[in-house]
Amino acid sequence: MVSPKGRHIVLLGFMGSGKTTVGQRIAKLTNLPFVDTDRLVEERAGKSIPDIFSQEGEETFRLYETEALRHALAGPRRVIATGGGIVTQEENWALMADQGVTVWLRVAFDVLCDRLTDSTGRPLLAGDRTWERTRRLYLSREPLYRRADIWVDGEPPVGQVAETVVRSVANLLATQGERVE
Ligand code: S3P
Repeated sequence: MVSPKGRHIVLLGFMGSGKTTVGQRIAKLTNLPFVDTDRLVEERAGKSIPDIFSQEGEETFRLYETEALRHALAGPRRVIATGGGIVTQEENWALMADQGVTVWLRVAFDVLCDRLTDSTGRPLLAGDRTWERTRRLYLSREPLYRRADIWVDGEPPVGQVAETVVRSVANLLATQGERVE
């Protein structure tokens, strides 16, 4: 198991890539606490993400998201699931790179489309948004996800993805001279 004193495990990826479900499974495997920045934002704002987007706008949501990330990173080592757009703010990279190991859950766009067909609660997929526009968003994000320390195939069953993440993070920390037990 990875040392509890090491850096946080920070999961990145597009909407529908499984950051929350995989993150919860990793938390079980490692006995680390789990936190989701989307849930932190909602708790701290006292309203849902769709309400934040419609009442305060995406820019304000991004400020809340950075604040939630800071809060998550300031605590003891944990597994952190992030929102798909966290990679768009340079400030977030400085925070994540400093205190976490970033892991991209890589899932093909077609698979994401299948997973997101009945999605609710995601303002960027709501309204008259077409798959073509979502695809453009995905393509604009992909180079950002590529900046992650580790890339893991997010398409296999959740347990398998979680084990691969744990193993890959342990390997990376070991090569960087951090204690792994
Ligand atoms: C967003 C992704 C969402 C949430 C918000 C914006 C994005 O999180 O943070 O709706 O910009 O991609 P998930 O990736 O967990 O769906």
